[in-house]
Amino acid sequence: MDGIKLMVDEHKWIKRMLEVIRSFNQRVLRHEKVDFEDLFLMIDFVRNYADKHHHLKEEDLLFKYIMEELGSTGEKLIRNGMMVEHDLGRLYMKELEESVKKILNGDENALVDVVGHSMSYYHLLQRHIAKEDEMVYPFGEKNLSREVLEIIHAESENMEKEAEKKGVQRKYESMVRDLENKYLISQ
Ligand SMILES: [Fe+2]
Ligand SMILES: [Fe+2]
Repeated sequence: MDGIKLMVDEHKWIKRMLEVIRSFNQRVLRHEKVDFEDLFLMIDFVRNYADKHHHLKEEDLLFKYIMEELGSTGEKLIRNGMMVEHDLGRLYMKELEESVKKILNGDENALVDVVGHSMSYYHLLQRHIAKEDEMVYPFGEKNLSREVLEIIHAESENMEKEAEKKGVQRKYESMVRDLENKYLISQ
């Protein structure tokens, strides 16, 4: 299994959910009906698919080897760039979760925070994914040794199979489809 191609494919699912988040916010701003509880599904997807399933694969495999094998350029690129953005994404989700709870408790002032935090995440991840697809992954593929790339491919396959046993991919891919059907606005 090509572990890097797999991560590019996971980006496609994440980007589909990002568009759901954007459409949800457009509906909010147009005063159209939305179910704020659905934001908990989006947060669940971000935490357990984008972060746990995907970002941990980056952090435990590709990024780990780029830092270990590719000197100070690799270390700086990953630690100061990509890891910082993963952490920032986690912070936006925590703040979004708190704002959704406030709305469900009747605090309409939190509406602007829901839009702000979720759209901050949208823009962060759009830029982050583009950087990985166009720069970080090709940098790793070009510079890591064949032996290390083979380890990444084999470990990715193991992780993927373990997740399949737990039904992770099935659960979150169908969540994306369901929310697209409910919220996606054709531009
Ligand atoms: Fe990442
Ligand atoms: Fe990624």
